[in-house]
Amino acid sequence: MDPYEFSIQKVKEVGATLLDARERGFSVATKGGNPRDIVTSIDKKANDILVSAIKKEFPTHRLYSEEGGDVVAGSDEQWVIDPIDGSANFSRGIPHFSVCLGLLKGGAPVAGAVYNPVTKELFSFKKGEGAFLNGNPIGVSGVSVLAEAQVVFSPGSRKPELWDWAAVSYRKLLEKSLKRGMYGSSALDICFVAAGRADVGVYGTLSTLDIAAALGILQEAGGVSASASGGSLEYSIASQKVYIGNSTPMLEELRVLLES
Ligand code: IPD
Ligand code: CA
Ligand code: CA
Repeated sequence: MDPYEFSIQKVKEVGATLLDARERGFSVATKGGNPRDIVTSIDKKANDILVSAIKKEFPTHRLYSEEGGDVVAGSDEQWVIDPIDGSANFSRGIPHFSVCLGLLKGGAPVAGAVYNPVTKELFSFKKGEGAFLNGNPIGVSGVSVLAEAQVVFSPGSRKPELWDWAAVSYRKLLEKSLKRGMYGSSALDICFVAAGRADVGVYGTLSTLDIAAALGILQEAGGVSASASGGSLEYSIASQKVYIGNSTPMLEELRVLLES
C-alpha cells in the first residue's frame, strides 16, 4: 500500500479507538513517576495497533514510536509514531490531541498524517505534492513581523534548567508579539502554523521523531523549522529545542529574540 494512504487510513482508525475510549474510560499513569509526564492505557493500545499494522504492511521498514516498538536495522525507511500527542489533554477530556504517523526516507519525512479525531481534522503531506487539511491544500500565513504574530509557546515545564529561559522568554513575547498560546499537542501546533492559524512557535524540549510527520506537513505548506542555534533540525530521539515559523525571517526574529 502507498505509505501516504496507509498513514491516513491508520491515523483515522486509531482516532476512532481514541473516541471510543473517551466514552468507555481508561486508566492514567505517569512515565517514570513524573506527574508531568502522563501516559494512558490508550497510548499503549493505540501504539500496538500502529506497530502491528506497520510490521504487517512494511516488514522491512525501521520503526520508532514514542511508546516503544521494534526496530528493524538496515532499512532506509523509518516509520515514526506518536500514538497520542497531547496525552495530558486526552486524560482530562480536553478535545485537543492527535494521532501522528510519518515515514522518513534517508532521515527526512516523505509522507505522513496528524489527526484530531474530535474535530475530525486530518492534516497530511506527501513530499513534493503539498500539505493538506481534509484533502484541501494548506499554506502558511503571510504575517511578516512578530508584533503581528500569533505565537505558539511551549517552553517545556518538565525541565527545570529551562524555567529561567522560559520566564524571560515569556516576558519578551508579552512585549514583542501579538498573541501567545500553549495548547498541549505540539504536532497540532505545528499543523496550525502550516495551515496559517498561528505564525511562529518554540518548544523548549521535544524529540523531533515525535513531531516528524507534523514537520513534514509544515515544510510542504511552505513553513520552516530550526534548532536554537538556527541550524537545521536533526531527526532524532534526543530532546532538543525546536523553532518553527511561517518563513525564515519570522523564525529568525523569534529565535534571535529568545536566544539572545
Ligand atoms: C507532549 C505534547 C506537548 C509538549 C510536550 C510533549 P505527549 O507530547 O506534544 O505539546 O509540550 O513536551 O511531551 O507526551 O502528549 O505525546
Ligand atoms: Ca505521546
Ligand atoms: Ca508527543
